[in-house]
Amino acid sequence: MGVNDTRRFPAFANFIHETYPHAKTVADVGGGHGNLSYYLRELGHDATIIDTHEAHLPRKLQRALRKQSVKQGRLIEIPRVVGKVQDVDLRPFDIIVGLHPDDATEHADREAIKLGKDFAIVPCCVFPIDGVKRTQENWRDYLASLSTDICSAMLPIDGANIVLYRCMQSTEQPGKSDAGEPVVAL
Ligand SMILES: C[S@@+](CC[C@H](N)C(=O)[O-])C[C@H]1O[C@@H](n2cnc3c(N)ncnc32)[C@H](O)[C@@H]1O
Repeated sequence: MGVNDTRRFPAFANFIHETYPHAKTVADVGGGHGNLSYYLRELGHDATIIDTHEAHLPRKLQRALRKQSVKQGRLIEIPRVVGKVQDVDLRPFDIIVGLHPDDATEHADREAIKLGKDFAIVPCCVFPIDGVKRTQENWRDYLASLSTDICSAMLPIDGANIVLYRCMQSTEQPGKSDAGEPVVAL
């Protein structure tokens, strides 16, 4: 299924929820159609999509949100900022996440480190700021080398499934795992 494995959305949302249960506001960088933000919302997080493109939730998820809106008597929408993440102030967010965020990957990683924020990023296509050609594996290693407190975990999905995330240098950190070992059950 590769990058079209739609299980990535709930799988990554669960990972984020289990690893950072207290994060309230989430910046979903390169959030595309908003699937990840939808599942994060279901788990109690206030996610905001930040993406250069205007896009809509898939119909099935739109319908689910409409039902919730009717039930709760208020309009439920997932906020979206249309623009490059490089131009967005990420300081108000508790956590920065990105699922296959392409050109936004390294900036999100670096900005989270600079701001001292928790973050979780699943890199996919290779988009380094320095333009150096790298394999996907080298790209991940490069991103992981940007700070000493980055751990990795594997999501139980096909395709690009390694999460790089900020962890304490403690074995008791929830969600911490060596790459290669699934930590999230669907
Ligand atoms: C491969 S898609 C992934 C979308 C979604 N996260 C998913 O997993 O289906 C990459 C997304 O990143 C967005 N993107 C690329 N560069 C960006 C940037 N600099 N700032 C914000 N979004 C960006 C694109 O518009 C696109 O929606």
